[in-house]
Amino acid sequence: MHSIVSKTVALVLLVVPLTSLGVLGFVFLASPPPLRPSARWLSVAPTSQIPANGQPTFLPIMAPRYDAWTRLSDQIVGHVFVRRDLATNDIKVVSAVHGPLAVPVDYDQQAGCFISRCFGVRFDINGTAITDRNVIPSHAADMPAVDFTIVDDVLFVKNTHS
Ligand code: FES
Repeated sequence: MHSIVSKTVALVLLVVPLTSLGVLGFVFLASPPPLRPSARWLSVAPTSQIPANGQPTFLPIMAPRYDAWTRLSDQIVGHVFVRRDLATNDIKVVSAVHGPLAVPVDYDQQAGCFISRCFGVRFDINGTAITDRNVIPSHAADMPAVDFTIVDDVLFVKNTHS
């Protein structure tokens, strides 16, 4: 009789923890990873970082990163030039790269224009090509305007790769 009781107790002590572990393991594996925010819009910067003097400022585009379960630090995936139009106070955003090969573009503050590192093509402050388009027609496209939105005073640009 004593043997049956001790065997039953031993069985219960073994089965209950194993069953609990099995249930917890199933719940862990069956639960989905945390929902990911839409990557349709990528953050750039608070609007307070856009100078009030109308000068273009070079800002990074940040993309959220995740591993299987956790949120990692954001990653820089590109850059844009952002400025305020002094006449209207509207915000203007243009890509910091140009052409099919995504050649970087710099802003020359002295000259007041953008310059592509490819052929030195120049663009006015709105990103409109000002180099003679007939000289290098295939490289004289305007700097691409970038779709953007502002949420809670933070500038987001449209993710064209989502
Ligand atoms: S890609 Fe910009 S000038 Fe060639």
